[in-house]
Amino acid sequence: MVQVLVLTSSVAWAVVYDPLPAMPYPADNPPTAEKEKLGSALFFDPRLSGNNKVSCSTCHLSDKNWVDQKPRSIGIDGKELRRNSPTLLNSGYSSSQFWDGRAASLEEQSLMPIQDPSEMNQSLPELFDELSAVPEYLSMFKTAFGDSKITAERISKAIATFERTLKTQETNYDLYWKGDKSAISSSALRGMNLFFGKAKCSICHNGPRFTDDHFHNIGVSFTQTAEKDVGRNKVTGELFHLRAFKTPGLLYVSRTAPYMHDGSLDTLEEVVEFYDLGGDDDPLKSPFISPIGLTTIEKQDIVEFMKALDRKESSYEK
Ligand code: HEC
Ligand code: HEC
Repeated sequence: MVQVLVLTSSVAWAVVYDPLPAMPYPADNPPTAEKEKLGSALFFDPRLSGNNKVSCSTCHLSDKNWVDQKPRSIGIDGKELRRNSPTLLNSGYSSSQFWDGRAASLEEQSLMPIQDPSEMNQSLPELFDELSAVPEYLSMFKTAFGDSKITAERISKAIATFERTLKTQETNYDLYWKGDKSAISSSALRGMNLFFGKAKCSICHNGPRFTDDHFHNIGVSFTQTAEKDVGRNKVTGELFHLRAFKTPGLLYVSRTAPYMHDGSLDTLEEVVEFYDLGGDDDPLKSPFISPIGLTTIEKQDIVEFMKALDRKESSYEK
């Protein structure tokens, strides 16, 4: 970890650099190549859905940084869901899954879209039958788990093992801290100081993935035209969680537009504009979200900084 003090007028802010640690694995699901292979096969297989047309990759596309680039995903019946599909890159690091954190682990999460009537609408017994009819699956379950029995737990463990391989690579921002001072532009560097200073972004977007893994109401839901989304409140019942959503990580963020849980902002420029105005007028909004007073150049600098949280080469590699 590297800490540097930035002086803006009379206030001292700390820029904290934390590189991405190794992927953590749960003790009861250690990684193996066999589980990963099975998990990958399941992830891309439309048999996991009731009509055999929707796979996990319908909404988390491998060639689109594991998002679908839609404001809100389209479910199995062709209807728009309420929320934006988050990238699966680095999801293995998150302490909870979904915008409202209702799943505690990737293992728990993976069985939810399969059975959700609006997402994949598949019953587990039917899924076991369909997979058992495929000899390749029987042999993959056997090599991964010792025998060919197909269970919900095994499916979830295999998919989670595959998802934990989806990580961002070293970014230009990492290269900068490793000593390559030309890895990011002077605009991005100014943006970094604003991000950790005047613009207060790092209050919530901090740590190796630029997220505190907590839930905040930043005043997005009020822009939403669709049904009001109570966010984290549905999970905890707490008033202070009303319209609070999980802070998304920002590594590779320039690749995963549109933004926010409802996909209501199209570009990073729009996101910075949103924060500069202090979010929507929500009575329960976080006290950390208030008008900032950024200049046009400062807004561009913050966008440049977020673009630097990416690799020099623009293509995704596993
Ligand atoms: C119809 C589109 C769709 C399908 C199919 C789908 N997802 Fe998602 N996924 C979403 C949306 C939308 C969200 C956010 C939902 C929410 O937060 O309530 C999401 C959230 C997630 C998350 C949480 C990520 C995070 O950062 O919180 C994971 C992990 C995930 N999906 C994995 C999967 C897996 C594995 C499958 C297949 C078993 C799958 N998804 C199928 C649309 C889809
Ligand atoms: C009070 C905590 C907090 C602060 C301060 C904050 N954010 Fe956020 N940020 C969040 C939360 C929570 C979300 C998701 C909100 C939602 O979807 O309703 C979010 C979403 C985003 C997104 C969208 C990412 C995606 O994948 O959809 C970007 C980009 C972003 N913030 C950048 C910034 C920048 C730049 C600043 C400073 C100007 C900032 N944030 C300040 C908590 C915060």
